[in-house]
Amino acid sequence: MSEIILDIKKISVIFNKMFFGRSQTIKAIDNVSLQIFNSETFGIVGESGSGKSTLGNAMIGLQTLSSGEIFYKEIALPLSGTKDWMRLRRQLQIIFQDPFTSLNPRRTIGQSLAEPIITHNLCSKNDVTSKVLSLLDQVGLNSNMAERYPNAFSGGQLQRICIARALAVQPQLIICDEITSALDVSTQAQIISLLKDLKLNQDLSLVFISHDLGLVRNIADRILVMYLGRIVEIGSSDIIFSDPKHPYTQALINAAPIPEPSREAARIKTPLFGEIPDPQNPPSGCFFRTRCNQVHDRCLIETPALKQVKKNQFVSCHHTEVH
Ligand SMILES: Nc1ncnc2c1ncn2[C@@H]1O[C@H](COP(=O)(O)OP(=O)(O)OP(=O)(O)O)[C@@H](O)[C@H]1O
Ligand SMILES: [Mg+2]
Repeated sequence: MSEIILDIKKISVIFNKMFFGRSQTIKAIDNVSLQIFNSETFGIVGESGSGKSTLGNAMIGLQTLSSGEIFYKEIALPLSGTKDWMRLRRQLQIIFQDPFTSLNPRRTIGQSLAEPIITHNLCSKNDVTSKVLSLLDQVGLNSNMAERYPNAFSGGQLQRICIARALAVQPQLIICDEITSALDVSTQAQIISLLKDLKLNQDLSLVFISHDLGLVRNIADRILVMYLGRIVEIGSSDIIFSDPKHPYTQALINAAPIPEPSREAARIKTPLFGEIPDPQNPPSGCFFRTRCNQVHDRCLIETPALKQVKKNQFVSCHHTEVH
């Protein structure tokens, strides 16, 4: 059994905001528990507003919790109160969708990569330049690019630089929040293959958040499917894609093309209808019931608990319990 890197225990995140003088409450994360293991790639999927980014931010202590706890190697987040917090903080990194706003336009790429190495005292002053060049090499960029400013790069190259900057501090976990969404298909594939290669060569866990099930399937060992802040299904990537149990997972997979003709023909066709409900006024019982084609009375009144259905598969659905 792999070591647990992050232990997320019954967390909820509630946002309160004022809109035209009225207070609005949104439960972005609703009682979520899960664990992230050493060296795994953990995918998070779900429609817009399902809470993926809020969960990703919470995983590195960037998001205040309304309730529950998150432990990084048995130390409670946020790490800022701990005595060793500088060393621990660098072990949890995040990369966002837009690399243009993630890098300082007035600094060369070399300066941006050197900064975290110097701040965290990760090598001697004389070795900083060679460390920066080796990071560029690791992400498939040329050493002469260190002198350039961000505006001289494409989106794909900038995202590689953001990956290099996250790697610079020798992290244990990197959250990748939609990092390929703004890139064309071939650049997306290159970034995925780069992340896979990087993971092979070091002790690193990745959380890969994406709308694109095809991409997540390509990279993730396990997958979490979220709906309105709740876990609907979680398990090994192979099982979730070959035998999805939750009607929402089935519908998401149904919408994503499978490149293998035999599996394409065999899969269950379950179209997803309707809109995601208003998060301020979610349905009673099972949140998915307003769009589910297998709904029954119990779904209207009772929130389904997350139950194990196979060795590496957990589902929150009354339907899977009934059958
Ligand atoms: N700072 C905030 N203040 C108020 N509401 C917020 C805030 N951040 C997120 N939310 C709300 O919380 C819910 C979850 O948002 P989140 O950004 O985590 O979703 P997501 O799954 O990442 O969506 P997307 O796929 O569009 O990035 C949404 O209803 C969103 O409007
Ligand atoms: Mg998001």
